[in-house]
Amino acid sequence: MTRKDILFTRYEIENRVHALAKDLAVDYRGKTLTLIAVLNGGVMIAADLLRSLWDIGFDDVLFDSIKVSSYGQAFESSGEPVILKDIRLDITGQHVVIVEDIVDTGLTLQAMRQYMLAKNPASFEILSLLAKPESIRRVPVVVKYLGFEIDNVWVEGYGIDSAEKGRGNPNIMQVIQPEN
Ligand code: PRP
Repeated sequence: MTRKDILFTRYEIENRVHALAKDLAVDYRGKTLTLIAVLNGGVMIAADLLRSLWDIGFDDVLFDSIKVSSYGQAFESSGEPVILKDIRLDITGQHVVIVEDIVDTGLTLQAMRQYMLAKNPASFEILSLLAKPESIRRVPVVVKYLGFEIDNVWVEGYGIDSAEKGRGNPNIMQVIQPEN
């Protein structure tokens, strides 16, 4: 039977997200920070980051979201990402941080980076709760603000789904399948 073990508890996640918010507050002091959540998975960490930033007194924050097609169908033949829901803010001249739940192959963020840079933001960085360094080595994506590095394992919870379920779990679970 498939087993689910806790990989990171809600308290470990809470502490790490708060630490990331502190890093952002230092790095963007005196500036307006634009956070852009990548839907759907990025909603949980984006919501927690926004509250953490507020709690530590950094409220010069704009928020928007974007949704791209899952990889496989994520790119036009031209290499452009397929945008299912675009941002509404004008990010030209803004300091943008993209907020993700997980970087797996890095393809989503690679496409997102090109798409966002074409809009001429003042700066562009990536924040992700999780990243699989083994897989993103194939695609060079720099995650400046990273919660946790993980091995190439199957995870769910805290925004991350398994067949669209399990996103609401406040912990990150490792899904372990039985060996045949
Ligand atoms: C997941 C995740 C990232 C992307 C990472 O989204 O939230 O956006 O995959 O994978 P990559 O680094 O290999 O591109 P998904 O497309 O499953 O959509 P969801 O957030 O709605 O679950």
